[in-house]
Amino acid sequence: MEKLLLFLLIARTLAMDNLKVAFQWKQVDFEYPTEEARQSALASKEFIPENNLPLGLEVHGDRLFITVPRWRSGVAASLTYINLSDSSEAPKLRPYPSWEAHRIRPDQPPEIVSPFRVRADKCGRLWVLDTGLENILSSDTKSLAPTRLLVYSLRNDTLLRSYVIPDHQIKTDSFFANLAVEDHDCGDSFAYLGDLGKPAIIVYSWKTGESWRVQHNFFHIDPLSGEFNVSGIIFEWTDGVFGLALSKPDAEGFSTLYFHPLTSTNEFSVSTKYLRDENLAKSSFHMYKHLGSRGPKGQSGVSFLDQKTDVLFYSLINLNAVACWRTTNPAYTMESQGRIYMSNVTMVFPNDIKVDSNDNLWVLSDRLPKFMYDVLDRNDINFRILTAPVADAIRGTACDSKLVISPKFKPSLGDKERNSVAKIEVKLSLFIFLLVAIRNL
Ligand SMILES: *[C@@H]1O[C@H](CO)[C@@H](O)[C@H](O)[C@H]1NC(C)=O
Ligand SMILES: *[C@@H]1O[C@H](CO)[C@@H](O)[C@H](O)[C@H]1NC(C)=O
Ligand SMILES: *[C@@H]1O[C@H](CO)[C@@H](O)[C@H](O)[C@H]1NC(C)=O
Ligand SMILES: *[C@@H]1O[C@H](CO)[C@@H](O)[C@H](O)[C@H]1NC(C)=O
Repeated sequence: MEKLLLFLLIARTLAMDNLKVAFQWKQVDFEYPTEEARQSALASKEFIPENNLPLGLEVHGDRLFITVPRWRSGVAASLTYINLSDSSEAPKLRPYPSWEAHRIRPDQPPEIVSPFRVRADKCGRLWVLDTGLENILSSDTKSLAPTRLLVYSLRNDTLLRSYVIPDHQIKTDSFFANLAVEDHDCGDSFAYLGDLGKPAIIVYSWKTGESWRVQHNFFHIDPLSGEFNVSGIIFEWTDGVFGLALSKPDAEGFSTLYFHPLTSTNEFSVSTKYLRDENLAKSSFHMYKHLGSRGPKGQSGVSFLDQKTDVLFYSLINLNAVACWRTTNPAYTMESQGRIYMSNVTMVFPNDIKVDSNDNLWVLSDRLPKFMYDVLDRNDINFRILTAPVADAIRGTACDSKLVISPKFKPSLGDKERNSVAKIEVKLSLFIFLLVAIRNL
């Protein structure tokens, strides 16, 4: 029995430190055209460094996009990128697509006001969900522009489309912080925008250029899951549908949307068949499934589904952790969920998760509750971007039901060794799985 426990312990430890820090910042800085321009932005308070908090991330080609929403005044640019081949630990953020797109003038809103999360699809488009709101953390919140979906071409960085969500689809408490894009067919793509404030999903059709609002009880909060404790900061949040992750298409061409409200410990799913058709959406109450629970303290923010491995990745806000579940598993249980990474230093508030086209997992952590309710220590590292190949990230976890080798895999002596360790780990996790199965009999 003792040996067994030791085994379990080893498997757990190996599985939990697979991500490496790629970039990290105490405070972010921006790449101004000249140092004079930077000094002048600081003097005029157009740029107040401590008010800039990286929140969303996306990777496309050699660019890593980072959003910096306008929570407070002094955000220099709210959509930025860094070059992935930048060797510095804390690269300066470059505005996307240009400085011009972020300039606030008295008479005219900037092209981009305040996006929280963005998505690069497989068709070379960057989908930007822009709240249009400035200074949302102060009493001086201003709406500079209506909530819009902006779509850029990643080939030439021009704005392809700016879609204003129609007034009647926006409710008093509406707030849009996350989106998912179904891009199997580039000409007939769909965006799913989560309204966390007045729970609903707005479905946007690229082909028709129209949107509609879909409601369901499962988009709502669980009133018993409203209290959070992130590293000792205790707060109450009432955020509805938030995590949105799309599977690869089924035989009919529809994805499964895995979703959860942030203020909840439950996971749900629905086929996009029942979202894509406005009329069908109205009569599909029973097509939604409750998959299961993440257990006590299992509230989750963002999620992302890697369509190659079918693994769903998600944040665990209270636990400073990123977890996973293989969607091909018959059940969403505590035993079938794996822990990818956990740290009360480097993973305090995992705020965005993506997998890029080279099968790398990316996570941004940013200590958001401390930024909102306390003050960030400017001498400490506050923002981090962590990464690992998906295969390494899930190795030795419950999501590693078979050994997944990355196509980019280049064998070397080190890798060979790691690989044999991995095989032992897989056997171990199988062993643990059997044990759990026996225990449950
Ligand atoms: C990123 O850096 C590489 C190497 O310096 C360069 O070739 C490439 O053009 C850069 N990409 C962007 C988007 O700036
Ligand atoms: C930019 O690329 C898109 C395709 O991604 C194309 O439709 C558009 O015409 C291009 N715009 C310019 C200005 O080249
Ligand atoms: C909140 O979490 C901290 C550890 O991060 C713990 O020390 C504290 O007891 C927790 N507080 C409550 C009320 O659960
Ligand atoms: C982080 O966890 C370690 C060990 O679990 C503990 O010693 C340390 O005090 C914790 N730090 C914070 C900031 O909660």
